[in-house]
Amino acid sequence: MFPTDRPRRLRTTPALRRLVAETDVRPRHLVLPVFVAEGLDAPKPISSMPGVVQHTRETLRKAAAEAAGAGLGGIMLFGVPARHDATGSGAVDPDGILNVGLREVREEVGDALPVMADTCLDEFTDHGHCGVLAADGSVDNDATLEIYADMAVAQAEAGAHVVAPSGMMDGQVGRIREALDAAAHADTAILAYSAKYASAFYGPFREAVDSQLKGDRRTYQQDPANAREALREATLDLAEGADMVMVKPAMGYLDVLRSVAEVSEVPVAAYQVSGEYAMISAAAERGWIDRERTILETITGIRRAGADIVLTYWATELAGRLDR
Ligand code: PBG
Repeated sequence: MFPTDRPRRLRTTPALRRLVAETDVRPRHLVLPVFVAEGLDAPKPISSMPGVVQHTRETLRKAAAEAAGAGLGGIMLFGVPARHDATGSGAVDPDGILNVGLREVREEVGDALPVMADTCLDEFTDHGHCGVLAADGSVDNDATLEIYADMAVAQAEAGAHVVAPSGMMDGQVGRIREALDAAAHADTAILAYSAKYASAFYGPFREAVDSQLKGDRRTYQQDPANAREALREATLDLAEGADMVMVKPAMGYLDVLRSVAEVSEVPVAAYQVSGEYAMISAAAERGWIDRERTILETITGIRRAGADIVLTYWATELAGRLDR
C-alpha cells in the first residue's frame, strides 16, 4: 500500500499538533527594546515603526510595568539625548537620559523584570558612530573601549542587570567585564552583540534614535557575506566572558544564528530589528499579509533556528496572546 508513511496523521487535530510542536514561544523568551528621549512632553511616534514611540520618562515607566506584567523576559533600553558631542559624554553621565531611564525603570520593576542597557555610543555622538574618532576620522577601537568601560559601570550603577555592548569594537566584552568587576559589579551580566551585521534593516532605528550618522558602519559591523566570521566573533566574546551572545538582525541571518547556537555554551539571543518590524507592519497595513500570524511565525522561526531569547518590538503585544 502506498503511501506507507503518513506524516499527516500527527497534523489532524489542533491538540495533536500541540502535542508534537518542537518549538514554542513564551513571554519569557521575549525582550522588549524601548527608546527613552530627553526633554519630551509626550511620547513621540516613530513614523517608520507604527506603534513604537520615543518614550518620555513617565511613559517609559508605564511600558516597563506593562512588560513586567506581561511576563516578558526583559526590557532593553536605548537613550535619545537632547545633545550630542564628539565623545558621547551623555552616555557616561549618571544624569544622562539612558542612565536616568535605567534608574527609574529599575525602581519600577525591581528584580521582577531583567533590565538591560544598550552599551554603545552612537546615540550620544554628534557624528553618529559607535565609538570615538581618531584624528584621521576612523573609529578608534581602543579609545572607545575605555568609554564603554565607564559607560557599562554607569549603567550598572543605575541599576541595569545586564549591559549589552553593541558597538562591535574588538575586545569590548573583556574590557567591560574587567571594569565591572573592578567596580564591584561582578553580578552584572554581559549580553554581547557578537555577530552584528552592517545591515540596511536598521534604517527605521536611525529615525528612532535621531541618528546623526553620515556614511556607514562597515569598518566595525560585519559584512553580510560572512558566516564563519560570526563564529570567530562569538568565540572571542565567550572567551572574554560574555554571559549571553546575540545575532543581529534575525530573519536574514538564521543560518548564522543556527551555527552560533550550535557552539555556544551560553544562552543565545537574536534581535528582530526595526526594518523587520517596519516591513511586516507595512505589508500588513496594506492587507497583504496577516499581521498577527506573521509576527508569531517569524518569531517561531527565530526560536527554531536556535534563539533562546528574541528581542522584538512586538514583545508586550505578542505576550498577551501567548501561554505563560
Ligand atoms: C547601535 C544599535 C543599532 C541597533 C541597535 N543598536 C543601530 C546600528 O547599529 O546602526 C539597531 C536596532 C534596530 O534596527 O532595531 N547602538
